Formats: sequence, C-alpha cells, structure tokens
Amino acid sequence: MPEAGGVQVLTTIAETRALLDTQRARGKTVGLVPTMGYLHAGHRTLVDRSVASRDVTLVTIFVNPLQFGANEDLSTYPRDLDRDLAMCDAAGADVVLHPSVEEMYPLGTPTLTSISVAEISARMEGASRPTHFAGVATVVSKLFNIAGPCHAYFGEKDWQQLAVI
Ligand code: PAF
Repeated sequence: MPEAGGVQVLTTIAETRALLDTQRARGKTVGLVPTMGYLHAGHRTLVDRSVASRDVTLVTIFVNPLQFGANEDLSTYPRDLDRDLAMCDAAGADVVLHPSVEEMYPLGTPTLTSISVAEISARMEGASRPTHFAGVATVVSKLFNIAGPCHAYFGEKDWQQLAVI
C-alpha cells in the first residue's frame, strides 16, 4: 500500500475490513474520510490531511438514504463517481469504499437499529428534519465499525452534524 496504479476501489465491507486489518497488523495507521461523493475542494483538504498524516487513507463514497427525509429527493442527489475516483487518486488516497445500499443495509431501510443523539439531533436543523441526524449518526457508526481503529476526518461546515458525530 499504496498499490501501483492508484487508488483501489472496493464495494464490500468484508474486503475493506480485511485490507485495513492487514495494514494495521503491519503497523500502519489508517485515516478515514467519510463522504457522500460529488467531492469538492473541502473534501480534497480532508483527504490531503489524511494522506499527509496516516499511512493508509480510506475514502468512503456512499449516498446514505437514512439521512434523507420522506420529502427529500435521494434520487436527485448529485453523483459523479468517475470524477470522485479521479480526485481520490490524484490526492493519493489508497482505498475507496463505494458500497451499495444493500451492502450497508442488508435488512433494508428504514433500519431495525439506529443511533440517535438525544438533544443535539432534535434542535435547529433537526427540528425540520426529524430523522436526518439519526441517519448521519447511524451511517457514521457503521463506517467507524467498518474502518476499525483509525483517525477520521470530517468537514466543519455543517457544525450541527459535527456536534452529533
Ligand atoms: O457530510 C456528509 O457528507 C455526510 O453527512 C456523511 C458524514 C458522510 C455521512 O453520510
């Protein structure tokens, strides 16, 4: 790691866990950059930071249905995987996990189990988007669980999201 030829793209949780466990067993540190794709300069900064300070950088690209409300259109969320992969590659990321919804939520959505952060989740934006922050907290918990011991990098633009995380 990194493999010659650029970023490695994985779609399953099992492969991602195995790869990162192997790297940690070799004494390597892992950086995690969770995203919903359609990457911009802010994401690039997070990837750059992880690449500069960790041995292995995993970027996750997953448009998380749980954080979209009933009246919010998940299907029109912008996506451009080729461009995202090119950006991750150019930044020197090692691995991209781009799982399907079925891979992340094999029992379907809404999920049987979810995580919600009392108080913070219900205020401000949470007041008009009652399921949004539980969706964020649930997917981020899953991503931490997939990545294993790591340092994670989040943008600070969405302050309330950061507080929930
Ligand atoms: O900020 C985002 O892009 C998303 O809310 C996150 C943290 C990747 C969870 O889906």
